[in-house]
Amino acid sequence: MNDHVRIVEVGPRDGLQNEKTLLPATVKIELIDRLSDTGLATIEATSFVSPKWVPQLADAAEVFTAIRKAPGVVYPVLVPNLQGYERAREVGATEVAVFTAASEAFNRKNINASIDESIERFAPVLERARADGVAVRGYVSTVLGCPYQGEVPVSDVVRVAKRLHDLGCHEISLGDTIGVGTPAKARAMLRAVASEVPMAALAVHFHDTYGQALANILACLEEGVRVVDSAVSGTGGCPYAKGATGNVASEDVVYMLHGMGMTTGVDLDRLVATGAWLATQLGKDTASRVTKARTAA
Ligand code: HMG
Ligand code: MG
Repeated sequence: MNDHVRIVEVGPRDGLQNEKTLLPATVKIELIDRLSDTGLATIEATSFVSPKWVPQLADAAEVFTAIRKAPGVVYPVLVPNLQGYERAREVGATEVAVFTAASEAFNRKNINASIDESIERFAPVLERARADGVAVRGYVSTVLGCPYQGEVPVSDVVRVAKRLHDLGCHEISLGDTIGVGTPAKARAMLRAVASEVPMAALAVHFHDTYGQALANILACLEEGVRVVDSAVSGTGGCPYAKGATGNVASEDVVYMLHGMGMTTGVDLDRLVATGAWLATQLGKDTASRVTKARTAA
C-alpha cells in the first residue's frame, strides 16, 4: 500500500444536488474550472438524472459542455439509467457512475425502484459503456444505516457491492449517505466488502451529519482504502435522505492526509480559496473547519 490517496471531488454533483439555492450554470462551470486548477484528478461534474427529481442539476448538459477539460483530470457524471447515459454521451462524457443502495426502502424513495430493479436498469448502461470504452463507477448508498429502514446488515452491503463489481464497475464507492457511521462499524463494513471485492477497487464516501466523517475515513485508510470521496466546502446531502447533511469537506480531508504525510496532489490553498468562494456563491457559511480557520480575519 502506498501513501497516495485519490480524492474524488463530488461537490459539483453530490454537493450541489441538495442545495436549496439554485445556482446558475455559469457559477457551476466556474466551480469546476477552479477545482480543475487545484490538482484534483477526479471531479464528478454533474448528474444526468430526471430534472423533475433533481431540479438543481437540470443544466447538466450545458455545464458539462462548457467546463474546461484539464489534461489528466477525469470528469465522471452520475446516470440512473440508459436515458441518462445517452444524455451524458451526447455531450462527450467518458466516465459515468451508476447508483443503488444496500437498503430496499431507500432505493424506493431515491430512484423509485428495488435494488434488483435498479441493477436491471443499469445492466444495459454497463453493456453500452463497455462497447463505448466508458469507465463506470458504482455507488452503494446507506452502507452504515438507512433513514427509512434503520440498521443495514453488512451482508447486504457486501452482496450489492459484489454485484456491481461483477457487472463491470471498475470502482465501488461505499456511501454512508446519512452520516450515521462510527469508525469501528465503518472499518468492519469495509473489511467485509474487501473480502469479496479487491480493496484497490473500493472507495469510501462519508457524510458528516454526526461529525464522524474524518474519524471514519482514518479507520478506512488504516484498513487499506486509498480512494476517498469528498465535497469542497462540505456542501450537499441527498434530497431523498431526510436529515442527511453535507459530504465531508475536501479541504478537511486533504489537510488531514497531508498532516499524516500522505499525498493527494491537491494544492490545499487553492482548494480553500475555492471552498470560500463557493460558500459566498451559496450565501452561507462553509462547513469546512479548515477553510473557516484559514479564512478567519
Ligand atoms: P421515475 O419517475 O420512476 O422514472 O424516475 P420513469 O422512467 O417513469 O420516468 C419518468 C420521467 O422521467 C419521464 O419523463 C422520463 O423521460 C424522465 P416524462 O415522460 O414524465 O416527461 N427521465 C429522465 N429524464 C432525464 N434524464 C434521465 C431520465 N430518466 C427518466 N436520466 C429516475 C426514475 C431514476 C429517473 C428518478 O428517480 C431519478 O432521476 N432519480 C434520481 C435521484 C437522485 O439523483 N438522487 C440523488 C443521487 S444518489 C446520492 O446522492 C447518493 C450518493 O451520493 C452516494 C451516497 O451518498 O450514498 C451517490
Ligand atoms: Mg452522497
